[in-house]
Amino acid sequence: MRQARVNYDAIAHLYDATPYRAKPVDPELISFAKQCPTDEIAVLDIGCGTGNQLIANRGALNSAWMVGVDPFAGMLRQAKRKAAEIAWVQADGSTLPFHDQSFDFISCQFVFHHIGNKSGCLTDAFRVLRPGGRFVLRNVSPHDCPDWLFYIYFPEAAAVDLHDFWSPETLQAEMEQAGFATLTVDRQHIRYEQDMRAWFDEVRTRGTCSQLLAIPDAAYEAGLDRLTQELSAHGGLFARQNHVCFVTIRGEKPKSMPLSVCRRNSVPVGRRRRAGRAISN
Ligand SMILES: C[S@@+](CC[C@H](N)C(=O)[O-])C[C@H]1O[C@@H](n2cnc3c(N)ncnc32)[C@H](O)[C@@H]1O
Repeated sequence: MRQARVNYDAIAHLYDATPYRAKPVDPELISFAKQCPTDEIAVLDIGCGTGNQLIANRGALNSAWMVGVDPFAGMLRQAKRKAAEIAWVQADGSTLPFHDQSFDFISCQFVFHHIGNKSGCLTDAFRVLRPGGRFVLRNVSPHDCPDWLFYIYFPEAAAVDLHDFWSPETLQAEMEQAGFATLTVDRQHIRYEQDMRAWFDEVRTRGTCSQLLAIPDAAYEAGLDRLTQELSAHGGLFARQNHVCFVTIRGEKPKSMPLSVCRRNSVPVGRRRRAGRAISN
């Protein structure tokens, strides 16, 4: 089995303290829900982590049935502490322990690079989605931002990410292969001036950042040394341009499907039931 890129059980207690982990209501879900005849929709978040997305969604869609899946029990325990009424299920994103056609909307945010069996995840997401349902995958797109500061100071992180993340083109092709239709791909380029002293304070803890956790200690220390030297050469203060790119890919399960796609996505129920379990405290 592939070794996990990051051991999320070890950092689960730190996760919510990282400022950028907070989430607003998912605009993708709101836009999908507006087209549904009822608010009673079933929503799955693959790699839900500490549950922030589903918990935020609950405020806007309180009749929806929400389920979060994550293989790391430590992350799910944090989620359950905040919202025990949401179903938190421990399972891998590529072996979803649900019946066919159980969900109307599936999100997968900043997770896909962690999943070993990526094609399996897409196929299983397609299987558990109802016809007319929507799958929305959002992630960093390393292929579109080689100048992200993480990659400049920690070049090993670029190499690891280019291996672990699929490019938007590959994702689109594989989603089509899994059966998704009406695909749309949006890239969001974010450019800004980074205060390097503030960035140093952020990266020197390593925190919950998977770009820093996925590289060897020596590579992390080398990047940190370089940053320390540059800061001292600039009297502790300087700024650099930063650029990160996010990609959002949406795909729908057609209301009617060719038989070949139905067969490809059918998995015996018994096997699925054994694949996951509800999380306890
Ligand atoms: C960067 S966090 C994102 C969490 C959450 N989606 C968010 O946006 O805050 C990555 C998540 O992927 C989960 N993860 C790791 N391997 C996974 C797998 N094979 N299947 C599903 N989720 C996985 C981790 O436990 C972690 O919660």
